[in-house]
Amino acid sequence: MTHRSNKDVLQQLAQHEAICTTGGAFPLVLAHAQGSRLWDCDGREYVDLCAGFGSLPLGHNSDALRSAYADDGISTGMGDIYASVAKAELLSALHKIMPAYLCRSALALSGSQAVEMAIKTALLYHRHRRGFIALHDSYHGLDLGALSLTAMAKFKQPFHAWLYTDKVEHVPLGCRLAELEQAVQRQRHIGTAALILEPVQGRGGMQVCSDAWLLQVHDFCRQHDILLIFDEIFTGLGRTGNLTKAFKIECDLLCLGKALGGGMPLSALLGREEVMQAWPRNEGEALHTGTFFGHPLSCRVATATLARLVDDDLANRAQQLGHTAGVRLQALLDTRSEVQAVRGTGLMLAIVFRRAQQGVRLANRLAAQGIIAIPAGTQGECLSITPALNIPADMLLQALATLGEVCG
Ligand SMILES: Cc1ncc(COP(=O)(O)O)c(C=O)c1O
Repeated sequence: MTHRSNKDVLQQLAQHEAICTTGGAFPLVLAHAQGSRLWDCDGREYVDLCAGFGSLPLGHNSDALRSAYADDGISTGMGDIYASVAKAELLSALHKIMPAYLCRSALALSGSQAVEMAIKTALLYHRHRRGFIALHDSYHGLDLGALSLTAMAKFKQPFHAWLYTDKVEHVPLGCRLAELEQAVQRQRHIGTAALILEPVQGRGGMQVCSDAWLLQVHDFCRQHDILLIFDEIFTGLGRTGNLTKAFKIECDLLCLGKALGGGMPLSALLGREEVMQAWPRNEGEALHTGTFFGHPLSCRVATATLARLVDDDLANRAQQLGHTAGVRLQALLDTRSEVQAVRGTGLMLAIVFRRAQQGVRLANRLAAQGIIAIPAGTQGECLSITPALNIPADMLLQALATLGEVCG
């Protein structure tokens, strides 16, 4: 390949790419990567504290990914018609490590698509109900169905006319049960089908739902026969110290994405038998499908990624290393008046600033120092830290030390 500079590639891109897409303020073009290290087209090296928005549990170009690529099995599937060995093997591997009560699953390509499928499942299950409850500051993706559940106003405002805002009630994370009760009351004419939440809100700035509150929500949903959906697209498969919150607190539907694909676009909706039975059997044409659903190459990478996650006990590592990193960040930022808190759990951490856009500014300054980390929070007030679960500890702690210096 001929050598290209960052500037050269960005100029080429700008000629044809829609202006709404690539938008990082720092002018870098990703050229190659290994593990938690990245290089741009100018040959500059970066430590990756973002890991593809949390989608690379094993880092870049993992062995899992490379071995699956080397396999000469078929690379594209026929979604809902002919199955592949790769899909069957992935579902077996996934269900072996997921709670037994979530015994059925369907695959899709993105997090948003898993959420869309959860919405459709709830509508099929509760045929006469149309209402959903979600949380303030939630992020469930930007496809139109998922976007109606997402709380972050900036993504919704221009599309308001096509959103189901009249069918979604948003309540605060940690709210009293009376507030949930009121939301259900407001939906009494349409009926509440499901409540969806992220056990830790990622894009909303690493806001953690306590187990005690989740348990109350679980009991509330049971009492009202409302489906409880865990959106674990960000939190799932190890990042927060467990494979899923659904082991501790039972849900009815579980959305997985990001880490599942180990770098490939893959997501899944898992559900209880009786809930997933709400879908009609596919007798030749599925009611819900997509050209690339069950993509065999992605399934092979996912199966190999799950094996590594389990064999190397990366959930446990995420919890321990995340704890060390959180303590280190607290110590580094303790005296900074502009920092409000260090928040999160496992390797899903955020520095929360008192002012909007501070996370955005810090992300750009960090890129200039060779660290990739991205902003989060409804106002860009956070900097999120979501590295690969196998990032070397010294690499992470060194990057945090640099962050502490750049932050001042
Ligand atoms: C909790 C959660 N749900 C859904 C999504 C949407 O996933 P995708 O961007 O793959 O559509 C995200 C993405 O960040 C997410 O964090």
